[in-house]
Amino acid sequence: MSTDLFIVGGDGDLALRKLYPSLYYLEINDCMPDSMRIIGTARTGQTREAFHAKIKKWLVQAVDPKLYSEEKWLSFSDKIHFAQGDATNPDALKQIGEEFFSRDNVLVVYLAIPPKIFGSVCQALDSCGLVTPESRLIVEKPLGDSRESFLEINHELSRVFDEKQLFRIDHYLGKESVQNLLALRFANDFFEPLWNNKYIESVQITVTETVGVGNRWAFYDQTGATRDMVQNHLLQVLCLMAMEPPSTLNADSVRAEKLKVLQSLKPINEHDVFARTVRGQYVRGNINSEEVPGYLEEESDKYEINPNSSTETYVAIESEIQNWRWSGVPIYLRTGKRLNKKHSEIVVYFKRSHHNIFTGVGSDRCHNKLIIQLQPDSGISLHLNSKVQGLDAGIPLQDGFLNLDLDNHSEPMKHDAYSRLFFDVFRNDQTLFVSAAEVETAWKWVDQIFAAWEKTEQKCEPYEAGSEGPKRAENLVRAVGQNWYDGEYCPVEFT
Ligand code: BG6
Repeated sequence: MSTDLFIVGGDGDLALRKLYPSLYYLEINDCMPDSMRIIGTARTGQTREAFHAKIKKWLVQAVDPKLYSEEKWLSFSDKIHFAQGDATNPDALKQIGEEFFSRDNVLVVYLAIPPKIFGSVCQALDSCGLVTPESRLIVEKPLGDSRESFLEINHELSRVFDEKQLFRIDHYLGKESVQNLLALRFANDFFEPLWNNKYIESVQITVTETVGVGNRWAFYDQTGATRDMVQNHLLQVLCLMAMEPPSTLNADSVRAEKLKVLQSLKPINEHDVFARTVRGQYVRGNINSEEVPGYLEEESDKYEINPNSSTETYVAIESEIQNWRWSGVPIYLRTGKRLNKKHSEIVVYFKRSHHNIFTGVGSDRCHNKLIIQLQPDSGISLHLNSKVQGLDAGIPLQDGFLNLDLDNHSEPMKHDAYSRLFFDVFRNDQTLFVSAAEVETAWKWVDQIFAAWEKTEQKCEPYEAGSEGPKRAENLVRAVGQNWYDGEYCPVEFT
């Protein structure tokens, strides 16, 4: 069955910067559904030619020049139409439907618009008869800013679409390196006996960025690092790292296992929130030798900055999954803006046996570590101890590693996270999409952190832009004798 993709907010920022370039990748991979049509809608009118020109302008910036060809652009743009109209108005939608959609095609609707109008667009789609049991709806964060507001939004969507028709995007799940976690965990049997609290001492999940919030200030100030990144991306990565093996790779099995992880997260309350979390806000500093403003000094041409804002641009959290496999293993989550580098990785520290036969100079045993790099490079390295070559007395040790580079350095990547996710929507596969229960449970855990911060009036700690974050965040991991892994691990003295 062919597909009509209807993008509401079709000439907005998200659509132009992300969605069309990702769809173009499907075109060059010959992965577009047969006789696919893409209909972008917006309230203000424009000709199809002007619409194409706008899309092309963004596309050539986003796509690697080696992957761009006029021929592919022409076959791609041939599929794209522009429809003027107010998507909250059933009459306007009916007209668009008559002109552009085919009754024989599956209608996939992407809401690239603010959540506050999700409900009215869904109602309008329904009341003009465009929604069938085969139709699908794609939405993406922010899906609320608390459990309660998420449930309200979800209620609006569920009045028209069943859970099986809803595709909630977390773009981290579209990343190759994140999907590779499933392969690493469940296609390499030798890890399984080690993947638990008997052998793992602690885990660090880090997603850092060098960018600030700039023109997104007003949105970000209502959101902060915990809602923007932890509630979704970091918790999803944590789920894939920690979940039990699903019985199959289908959506129901994978999502059920992820949900169990979220349900097992140890609550953080006012009694332990200070010891288990650090909130930070960046102040003026240097990134790549360039001075950058602090969060409260950002220039936004659209909004006024609140000089007293207490929104966190950094957060570090000690989480724990209270189940048979993970109980007692601290899993540290850390994310922030304007830090010293952009990188995302998972570091798994394995325990060391208590008895150490290697004593003497240079004989500190490092922890065996598995480092899973998610971005910008993607790879896996296993850190092992080995003997330093030479005629030294005893057996001095060094930290070495086995490296698996997952990037193909000779070819540009022919798809991105969104193209993977579009591909799966068209195949009607929800495995890489987040269920309502997952989003709700993640909010529940995050909500109580906010409640605890509020109750204890826990302040943001300043950190210089370009630094590694607030000083106190170091103490979180020191509690288990570690530093935050920064690529140059140096063992803490063995005891
Ligand atoms: C988005 C957040 O979801 O993810 C942004 O809203 C953040 O604040 C972005 O910059 C990070 O995504 P990526 O793919 O660049 O790591």
